[in-house]
Amino acid sequence: MSIYFDASQNFFHLSNNEISYIIGIEKKQYLTHRYFGPRLAEYHQVNQLQMIDRGFATNPISEERTFSLNTLPLETSTQGSLDYRVSNYQFRNIDGHCITNFAYDHFEISEGKRPLEGLPSLRGDQGQTLAIYLVDSIQSLEMVLYYTIYEDLPVITRSVSYTNNGTQIVYIENAGSMLLDFPRCDFDLLTFNGAHTNEATIHRQALHPGIQKIASTRGTSSPQHHPFLGLADRYTNEDQGDVYGFHFIYSGNFVAQAEVEQYGSTRIQIGINPETFEWKLSPGTTFQTPEVVLNFSRKGFNQLSQTFHTLYQTYLIPKQWQQEERPILLNSWEGNYFDFTEEDLIRQAQLASTLGIELFVLDDGWFGQRTDDTTSLGDWYVNNAKLPNGIEHLADVIHQQKMKFGLWFEPEMISVKSRLFERHPEWSLQVPNYPQTQGRQQLVLNLSLPEVQDHLIQMLIAYLSSNKIDYIKWDMNRHLTEVGSFLLPNDQQKEVSHRYVLGLYRILSEVTERFPQVLFENCSSGGGRFDPGMIAYMPQTWASDNTDALCRSKIQYGYSYLYPPIMMGAHVSDSPNHQVGRNTPLESRFLIAMSGNFGYEIAIEKQSPQELEMIKEQIIFYKKHRKLLQFGQFYRLKELDASYSTAWLFKNETEALLVYSNGLAQPAQTVQYLKTKYLEESALYKDMNTEEIYSGSELNHAGILIPRIKGDFNCFYIHWTVIR
Ligand code: DGJ
Repeated sequence: MSIYFDASQNFFHLSNNEISYIIGIEKKQYLTHRYFGPRLAEYHQVNQLQMIDRGFATNPISEERTFSLNTLPLETSTQGSLDYRVSNYQFRNIDGHCITNFAYDHFEISEGKRPLEGLPSLRGDQGQTLAIYLVDSIQSLEMVLYYTIYEDLPVITRSVSYTNNGTQIVYIENAGSMLLDFPRCDFDLLTFNGAHTNEATIHRQALHPGIQKIASTRGTSSPQHHPFLGLADRYTNEDQGDVYGFHFIYSGNFVAQAEVEQYGSTRIQIGINPETFEWKLSPGTTFQTPEVVLNFSRKGFNQLSQTFHTLYQTYLIPKQWQQEERPILLNSWEGNYFDFTEEDLIRQAQLASTLGIELFVLDDGWFGQRTDDTTSLGDWYVNNAKLPNGIEHLADVIHQQKMKFGLWFEPEMISVKSRLFERHPEWSLQVPNYPQTQGRQQLVLNLSLPEVQDHLIQMLIAYLSSNKIDYIKWDMNRHLTEVGSFLLPNDQQKEVSHRYVLGLYRILSEVTERFPQVLFENCSSGGGRFDPGMIAYMPQTWASDNTDALCRSKIQYGYSYLYPPIMMGAHVSDSPNHQVGRNTPLESRFLIAMSGNFGYEIAIEKQSPQELEMIKEQIIFYKKHRKLLQFGQFYRLKELDASYSTAWLFKNETEALLVYSNGLAQPAQTVQYLKTKYLEESALYKDMNTEEIYSGSELNHAGILIPRIKGDFNCFYIHWTVIR
């Protein structure tokens, strides 16, 4: 891995064994994007810049009509002059003008990577960092573009800092994290879109002229659009072809866009959404943007996923969870909703313990006057009517059953019907003279207020200090409205959305660092805030409120492009399913949930003796294969089709497990051989059910005959051990 500056030809070359990234300096001032892709052993500028005197071009040097920043591939935009494509930043000065003129100043190369203050980011002990300084000398503004290249992965991270070295206040209206121009547009754009209970649906379509953009203005990254863009060659599939992935490590409002411009180049820009953002940059202060991960694969989507999985497990989640096996849980929500007593929970926990379940999670409904979702958020004291002996007692009883104990919180929320709201109505997000909008009959706490942050930190510390809570599910069930703050002056009201996210990150980092042994599960009505920012604090996320196994196979398939199975909470729930009413076999529900971070969310006492016996067997099976399922490599073997049929493979050095689902049964089933593709070619694999032995190469290339399967949504698995 190296970062090299060629002073004679004026370019930076960032490279490791797999990739190269090249940035040019033109006219000693302007940063051009020259290359990102497979590693180049050396670079002598074969791909010269096109210099043509174009119509409507703008020229920084008037007599050089072939040199225009409006058509060159750039590393950052200009503002108010020269470049008309989407911009990565915008300043407004106190005269109201929105113009800057940044020029290259100098660079620094350093080992490792500095953490981004107040923001989650990849750890970078294995990296090397280039900082390129640009200066607007008229207003004394500084912009630093940061690039870190990793030793062992085809990954670069980018972020920007904006500093005011002048004497006047300036306002940042747009603080983008990255921009680059590819000199072509024959890409397919890949995005993950959806809704509550339908997260991470893959969309792939050819780029076309104009701007294609996804964004959130909801205060969170949102289930509607995931903060990710992929750019794939037209022929790229799961196993071959080039694809770039851009993933934003941020949990608030974002924009991610691709602009195909007039001469067929493509600009990628990602950052905090400027629609809901502004920042007052006082003299002497700096604004640091969140980070974007740039990932490149030459071997299709599976390879892109392998890189994301390894990257996030190694450099993003809290270190203590990297190798830590996760317990099988029983979550109380779908089995009880708000309706339970202490005796009910204890009986359920006892039964769960006999089945081999390792963690009992008490979900919503345990606090304040909470008997439905209209009340008590903010009142984090125990509901005595339901739990007369308190949380600690319940935790003790569960620990006596040799299980861990977990508890649900929705810390960011406040019900109007709550003691907290009586005491602190001013803590909820609001704008003077306007009514407060409710969602799920609740308001949102203003997490940009330091006193709210302190209150939540203290509340959580008090619970966790008892040492009786092993796991916390952190929920967040509505989006932000009336985003204002009494603490900030008029000209800083548009800072609140971002300050909210910074407040959230402060709380999360203080609490998770103080209690590293407590497992935190991220949730926002399922995957509503499943993003790399949250993953930095909480190593797993409840992937969707939709627990129907057929829907889940699609949702988990989508998320698996970016996150490994261990990061996606997945539970066996009751049939018929509570969200879509579908009946599915218990075996299929198990195989899909087992392919994520595994647990149960069922009315456990209503299961028949045969079902309980099956659950017991499932748990034995899971424990036996936990290492493979939680830490093995995961590959998708089939692209999702209209019948929702899926197939995937877990693999490590000693074993492999294939899960196949037929989705919706089809008439006239075609002959199908499923190729495992990713097993070790020269190894011998023994099918642990039939005892038959096959070579990795025949499984990979000749494939397994898919049996005739009647009935919807039947799954099967094959488990092999490596015998040589
Ligand atoms: C939404 C979550 O996604 C569910 O799992 C559950 O915790 C409910 N909230 C509780 O209100």
